[in-house]
Amino acid sequence: MDSIGSSGLRQGEEALSCSEEGLPGPSDSSELVQECLQQFKVTRAQLQQIQASLLGSMEQALRGQPSPAPAVRMLPTYVGSTPHGTEQGDFVVLELGATGASLRVLWVTLTGIEGHRVEPRSQKFVIPQEVMLGAGQQLFDFAAHCLSEFLDAQPVNKQGLQLGFSFSFPCHQTGLDRSTLISWTKGFRCSGVEGQDVVQLLRDAIRRQGAYSIDVVAVVNDTVGTMMGCEPGVRPCEVGLVVDTGTNACYMEEARHVAVLDEDRGRVCVSVEWGSFSDDGALGPVLTTFDHTLDHESLNPGAQRFEKMIGGLYLGELVRLVLAHLARCGVLFGGCTSPALLSQGSILLEHVAEMEDPSTGAARVHAILQDLGLSPGASDVELVQHVCAAVCTRAAQLCAAALAAVLSCLQHSREQQTLQVAVATGGRVCERHPRFCSVLQGTVMLLAPECDVSFIPSVDGGGRGVAMVTAVAARLAAHRRLLEQTLAPFRLNHDQLAAVQAQMRKAMAKGLRGEASSLRMLPTFVRATPDGSERGDFLALDLGGTNFRVLLVRVTTGVQITSEIYSIPETVAQGSGQQLFDHIVDCIVDFQQKQGLSGQSLPLGFTFSFPCRQLGLDQGILLNWTKGFKASDCEGQDVVSLLREAITRRQAVELNVVAIVNDTVGTMMSCGYEDPRCEIGLIVGTGTNACYMEELRNVAGVPGDSGRMCINMEWGAFGDDGSLAMLSTRFDASVDQASINPGKQRFEKMISGMYLGEIVRHILLHLTSLGVLFRGQQIQRLQTRDIFKTKFLSEIESDSLALRQVRAILEDLGLPLTSDDALMVLEVCQAVSQRAAQLCGAGVAAVVEKIRENRGLEELAVSVGVDGTLYKLHPHFSSLVAATVRELAPRCVVTFLQSEDGSGKGAALVTAVACRLAQLTRV
Ligand code: G6P
Ligand code: BGC
Ligand code: BGC
Repeated sequence: MDSIGSSGLRQGEEALSCSEEGLPGPSDSSELVQECLQQFKVTRAQLQQIQASLLGSMEQALRGQPSPAPAVRMLPTYVGSTPHGTEQGDFVVLELGATGASLRVLWVTLTGIEGHRVEPRSQKFVIPQEVMLGAGQQLFDFAAHCLSEFLDAQPVNKQGLQLGFSFSFPCHQTGLDRSTLISWTKGFRCSGVEGQDVVQLLRDAIRRQGAYSIDVVAVVNDTVGTMMGCEPGVRPCEVGLVVDTGTNACYMEEARHVAVLDEDRGRVCVSVEWGSFSDDGALGPVLTTFDHTLDHESLNPGAQRFEKMIGGLYLGELVRLVLAHLARCGVLFGGCTSPALLSQGSILLEHVAEMEDPSTGAARVHAILQDLGLSPGASDVELVQHVCAAVCTRAAQLCAAALAAVLSCLQHSREQQTLQVAVATGGRVCERHPRFCSVLQGTVMLLAPECDVSFIPSVDGGGRGVAMVTAVAARLAAHRRLLEQTLAPFRLNHDQLAAVQAQMRKAMAKGLRGEASSLRMLPTFVRATPDGSERGDFLALDLGGTNFRVLLVRVTTGVQITSEIYSIPETVAQGSGQQLFDHIVDCIVDFQQKQGLSGQSLPLGFTFSFPCRQLGLDQGILLNWTKGFKASDCEGQDVVSLLREAITRRQAVELNVVAIVNDTVGTMMSCGYEDPRCEIGLIVGTGTNACYMEELRNVAGVPGDSGRMCINMEWGAFGDDGSLAMLSTRFDASVDQASINPGKQRFEKMISGMYLGEIVRHILLHLTSLGVLFRGQQIQRLQTRDIFKTKFLSEIESDSLALRQVRAILEDLGLPLTSDDALMVLEVCQAVSQRAAQLCGAGVAAVVEKIRENRGLEELAVSVGVDGTLYKLHPHFSSLVAATVRELAPRCVVTFLQSEDGSGKGAALVTAVACRLAQLTRV
């Protein structure tokens, strides 16, 4: 039952009331009627003006221009493509709001392209008036009740039900299953729903009801269901038009034109919400006194002015107002009205449609009027038919102007001279009133002659389309679950991180005592951070990070650095040791020549960022290569000797190698020059490691019990004894297996820049094999090792990037993907880098707690010098490390200082200190 306010037809039981004034003569009558009906005539120019004004509003709303407030909403839905027809499965559809005061539940079976069509089963429920105007919860409880009543009667398997919710009111959608009601329309006014997510309200009601477990997968507007349910034909069906109780249309817009979406590819279905269109300039001249009265007496005065001239809820009411007016003027019914004629909502859409239809006999019109308590004469019947036709014709013409605006918009955005398009039509006005449709079609042809439009009536009142969207949404939700399952092992909780910290502490203690441990805890023979009295010119080498550098470091009251970057080709890094060290000396010679230093024998500090057992400041035995280096005949050798031998081979140069320094130590020294509290060095770059100042008494194997010594932890190898096994995922295992040092540097392989991209790549391969990414198609490019560099991870996670930029970066890598794919790749990167930062934080927490305990302090304030491309370039890494340290070492106040000059400067400072001490002993 459609009604605005009170009841429907009453059986003529009420008394007539007649005009007391004299009745007009026949010629006056016809004039009065003409005058009245004239108001409903809309000229072609007026229709064109409405079309143009609506088009302007649509384009303004698309551009996201807030002022003046656009007259239509243009709400993006999350439907990105019209159906392929491949969708399959059983779906429950709940329709609310399309057809007046009724609610429909459907069981829709989609059988894909090949399968036979299965007719849906459906049931209609009348929503009581008090529910439509009552509390929101009552409405949703009513819907949940109807759902279970319907399902109770279905002879089908009711496990794992997936529901599509057709909710036909203006909503802001923020996902396929998230939609906030903006405002009620069409006779609904339930409290507490506007501004709420209607999907959540439905879910809550279903839960309260408790009879079935139903997953509400998608929410759609009726226009979208109408468009999506359209049988695929010769031309694409890219517009959905509904004229039922209310009216609206949706169409496929280019995503790049929808400002709020920030998406530059593909299309998105936009719900125009043209019912709210009300441009005074364009609509004003068309509005009649009856329209004003109707609006005034409606539940939402001032709103939905356009809808109130077209929607089925209002056509009957408009006719009633005209008839009552004409009766009062004495032109109709002998000047008599009836209580029913004067009651809001007594003439329904079906009556108007029937009376308007020329094939309806006079007797039937007569009967309808009699039911209204009227006593029509013969001429009255004809007049009433005219009134109905005038009201409906105007509605169809206005609707055509609006549709023509949508078509023009579509044509503009496609940049096409002529547009061939199919419009899916739905709703009772379209379906049951052939005259409405023919006027609509004729007027569209007139107003949009450049568009070749075919009109296709919707199937199952849009229910099938809703099921289609639900099928797609269900697939996406399943993908999301698989993504979450895949990433779950990367999400570490507090207990897991505390366990890593505790294990690290244990391994540190063992390593320091000289017992078997994955942490080697190597003494560096650096006993103090610089005191500022160091002076002189030094050469430094910096090998083992992204860049190989040669530096000239001038230490006076400050430090001045000149440096040059040289490449180490992979063939050299993985060739023979002799080749590598000859290459290094060549670079030094080149640097000396460029700097005019040839012939000078400056003291040289060598930052060598690999694990070395040092026997003194200038002696370091390479224990093993890491980070992709594998030059032969170096492991087990003293690196300083290898360098000196290469110098000798080169004859022409003389170099005085004074110290070999790990990059962590170089970084600590370099930052220590600025901040004396800097007693920890941390690297998170190609590899990862840390060093810190340990009490000499705790260090086995180095004579002396007083003072401190910097210990190179070599924490990259933490876990190589299997102690990290419970955190290691299948992807970590794959990365490890494919590396040149399987089983080694397991902690480093979960943290540092050289490996994170590889972990991401392995996860993406897995997700592709599950069909979650890239539509399940294996992509050749993804098979390529090391395509994701650290820089790339840092870029992709930057907050300032829109999803489309993320997508562009991925496409530059040769990965063709959709926005959904891009979002997933981003989430994968985030999970992997977050775990890395947290593990790194757990390591730092172990170190600071050790220092605090060493010194017997309640609280420790300490600084950490940090370097490395991942730490420095990644947008969130550093703050995540700090947060984890705060959580796991609450009694330490830790300041992180980023090293600006690299560890070469630190190596020069270590060299300077050594030279100062050597001078002292000589003196
Ligand atoms: C430094 C150094 C490098 C070191 C690097 C780590 O400051 O000068 O020798 O290995 O940082 O960063 P990277 O990201 O280049 O591996
Ligand atoms: C609603 C639209 C709906 C249309 C047709 C209007 O009142 O605002 O969302 O599509 O009616 O049902
Ligand atoms: C090396 C360490 C180095 C770290 C950071 C690791 O692979 O073993 O010596 O400090 O990378 O560059």
